[in-house]
Amino acid sequence: MHKIAVIPGDGTGPEVVREGLKVLKAAAAKFKIAFQFTEFDYGGARYLRTGETLPEGAIEGLRGFRAIYLGAIGHPEVKPGILETGILLRLRFELDQYINLRPVKLYPNVETPLAGKGPEHIDFVVVRENTEDLYVGIGGFFKKGTPDEVALQEMVATRKGVERCLRYAFELTRRRNRMKKLTLCAKTNVLTYAHDLWWRAFNEVARDYPDIKPDYAHVDATTMWMVKNPEWFDVIVTPNMFGDIITDLGAMIQGGMGVAAGGNINPQGVSMFEPIGGSAPKYTGQGVINPIAAILAAQMMLETLGEAEAAAAVERAAVKAIGRMKSMNAGQMGFSTSEVGDLVVAGL
Ligand code: IPM
Ligand code: MN
Repeated sequence: MHKIAVIPGDGTGPEVVREGLKVLKAAAAKFKIAFQFTEFDYGGARYLRTGETLPEGAIEGLRGFRAIYLGAIGHPEVKPGILETGILLRLRFELDQYINLRPVKLYPNVETPLAGKGPEHIDFVVVRENTEDLYVGIGGFFKKGTPDEVALQEMVATRKGVERCLRYAFELTRRRNRMKKLTLCAKTNVLTYAHDLWWRAFNEVARDYPDIKPDYAHVDATTMWMVKNPEWFDVIVTPNMFGDIITDLGAMIQGGMGVAAGGNINPQGVSMFEPIGGSAPKYTGQGVINPIAAILAAQMMLETLGEAEAAAAVERAAVKAIGRMKSMNAGQMGFSTSEVGDLVVAGL
């Protein structure tokens, strides 16, 4: 029995999660998987009502689940930063989800803005470190609000945190068994402390993986290659902040936020799966948002739960549905949100 915590969240989150659950339930029936879903109302609406982001005991409660299925967190009436740090980042950090796994895969019939590139060119995975770097929130102000103001925000790299992320990335590159190439994306020429640690750890860990070709690209060059030669990449491993930035670029070249999914993974603990697109307030409640990203997030969850057969079937069914859709963009799919979910279920 897989106990799954469901956090539909804000905006279009509930609409896409509904379709993801529909697909999960269909997969469960077909492959004889037992799920138990428990819903939590964490998000912006709850915060506006109660004044708290995550209630007392929320994290402890979530530790009792095998995984978390998340829609979106973000509310136009809440000041930026509160929900992000109070909910999303807190879950990632406290549940020690140290990997943010973001596949960048262009499926057939999905339009990419990259001229001359097709599915054969865009199929790589970004392994984003998910608990350190500029995201740790260490810093502060000095003489705030005066002309002499100083603001510090620290970039943190720990040997342990970096090494476990690198090992995960090497293992994944081996498992994918494609180009067997792992690219470290950093900025060693400027960040001469934090990224020196990354560089040394990368080269040391690489010795344990003689079958994997270690590769390096500075982050600025990475964005260039992602546009010009995305076929060069197999797996990219990168610190948190750069990972945040390059995976939005990745989402665009794979067809947009309607298809981009991600997993916040703690290989020994509770992982959390989400479409990476956010709450899309302007499309909320219209039934026009693309649920494919949420469905692919559910597919990643199945994979992590060890349900490989069901995961592969959901991906095939999603690909079939995508083949019939006019566009991946909200409102231009040729189907409503729930019709896309139905298509995937039918494909299963
Ligand atoms: C993401 C988002 C988050 C991040 C924000 C909402 C804190 O952009 O999941 O990529 O920066 O990690
Ligand atoms: Mn982001």
